[in-house]
Amino acid sequence: MTRRLPDGGLDPLAAHELIGPNADDSPFSPDELRAHAGSVDAIVSVLTDKIDADVIKAGAAGKLKVVANVAVGYDNVDVAAAREHGIVVCNTPGVLDETTADLAFTLILAASRLAHDAEADLRGGRWHGWGITQYLGRDVHGATLGIVGYGRIGRAVARRASGFDMRVLHHTRTDTGEPGYVADLDALLADADVVSLHVPGGDATRHLIDARRIALMKPTAVLVNTARGPVVDEAALADALHGDRLFAAGLDVFEREPEVHPNLLTAPRAVILPHIGSASQATRTRMARLAAAAVDTVLGGGVPPNVVAS
Ligand code: DGY
Repeated sequence: MTRRLPDGGLDPLAAHELIGPNADDSPFSPDELRAHAGSVDAIVSVLTDKIDADVIKAGAAGKLKVVANVAVGYDNVDVAAAREHGIVVCNTPGVLDETTADLAFTLILAASRLAHDAEADLRGGRWHGWGITQYLGRDVHGATLGIVGYGRIGRAVARRASGFDMRVLHHTRTDTGEPGYVADLDALLADADVVSLHVPGGDATRHLIDARRIALMKPTAVLVNTARGPVVDEAALADALHGDRLFAAGLDVFEREPEVHPNLLTAPRAVILPHIGSASQATRTRMARLAAAAVDTVLGGGVPPNVVAS
């Protein structure tokens, strides 16, 4: 176990000997990860642990059989290396969709209505009374929402949007055949009032939303990212916000977490959160249990339902 997990999360591993996390819950260094990998049967990792080819090789030289990542995303795990060495990789799909969609919608609402800037002024003593032209945001109800990546979380966001009478479009590489499908990502970006990103991380989606694509968006549009930071070119997004070429942004993920691009920290109309998409007590506990149960299944010779590589 690389990190402390929510209470009850490790119950499925009650019959196994557990090693880790560090007493102060600090992340293992790359050297520590490699050293532990060589002596354990399983690693229960989190998305900040780099389970790279060296860690996998160290594990394969020992008795490592499974890496269970307590996240739906697994861009921190070298899946190809794991496959090459016959090490199973598991993730935690299905249990965090609604919680993450709740947060995406929080960001859609907060960014559109300038909640952060307004609150910051209030707390900072810069609000001197109600004014009819203050903090004029964009309406969410009735707006067009463009969802990029239409998996379980994207669909959960779409369900919430229908309650706000939004017109919902979606883009994926493969035609869903469903109403609202837009084959051309650029066309969706140009049409949407709010864009919410729900694609996986990794090389294929790195800077999917770059300066060119941000420029296609309406200057009145809002960009929300609860997927993975590198999907958006942060410097380009910060430039667009500073230059008033984009209305607002809501971000829960960043390119180099825990760092945030300095220009984003100072950008106007940006709501930024520290990667809390799935952070409810119930959901984080479900995620930990799912990962722990997968480890127990693999060590017992079975195949868990949540395998991404084997
Ligand atoms: C995930 O699961 O991939 C989220 O980013 C954290 O819950």
